[in-house]
Amino acid sequence: MPTVLITGANRGIGLEFARQYAADGWKVIATARDPGKAGELKAVPGVQVEALEVTDDASVAALAAKLKGVKIDVLLNNAGISGPRGFAIGEWDFKAWEEVMVVNSIAPLRVAQAFLPHVEASDRKIMAFISSRMGSITLNGGGSAFYRSSKTALNMAVSCLALELKDRGVTCAVFHPGWVKTDMGGAGADITTGESVTGLRKVIGGLDIGKTGKFFNYDGAEFPW
Ligand SMILES: NC(=O)c1ccc[n+]([C@@H]2O[C@H](COP(=O)([O-])OP(=O)(O)OC[C@H]3O[C@@H](n4cnc5c(N)ncnc54)[C@H](OP(=O)(O)O)[C@@H]3O)[C@@H](O)[C@H]2O)c1
Repeated sequence: MPTVLITGANRGIGLEFARQYAADGWKVIATARDPGKAGELKAVPGVQVEALEVTDDASVAALAAKLKGVKIDVLLNNAGISGPRGFAIGEWDFKAWEEVMVVNSIAPLRVAQAFLPHVEASDRKIMAFISSRMGSITLNGGGSAFYRSSKTALNMAVSCLALELKDRGVTCAVFHPGWVKTDMGGAGADITTGESVTGLRKVIGGLDIGKTGKFFNYDGAEFPW
């Protein structure tokens, strides 16, 4: 039975990943900043819930140590924030921008570094990173500079990671999950978490080293950088 570790699994897309992988018989290690408040996640049968604050070195190191020797087939870096929107130049809040970069761009790589031994020891050796079409420079429509730039930076960091890990057989890819009805996406979004995660799981399931370093939509189409 393969194993998946999911960050930010207490709500939204991460929670749906936990539900679907568990229903499919996977061993699911689902993380939340505060497991005490992760009632919906803890109600999913068969899921191992662990505490993880992805911006905190000590938190990430502690979970990696606790899980030493556990093989992780799919490391799913899902946790993210939108940050404040609607700032124009002259109004930029640099503290807020920095926080978005720390959570969305840097933290997933901290998690990747800490769990590389677990992934490398597994059969599938997959690192999946939930990015966004808003990180695509080609498709940029302007606005939301904090969030857009954080996802563009994530994309480049994963592209570098993929090149570095290719010879070690670790496949790394970034994904646009669609515009999804969650706290972040809002009620007016295009698709449900169920539709998004069904698609993403299919694409992740079809990954191999020949697809490392690519950017995919949840329906499997390649995305422009
Ligand atoms: N929804 C969309 O339309 C959409 C579109 C494109 C990309 N995405 C991306 O998809 C991913 C999931 O989004 P979502 O819509 O499911 O968002 P969401 O409903 O707002 O959930 C975000 C999750 O990330 C966790 N998180 C935030 N900061 C964290 C931190 N520092 N450490 C650990 N966990 C943290 C949250 O935990 P708490 O509950 O503790 O805050 C929560 O579990 C994100 O990377 C997002 O950028 C979403």
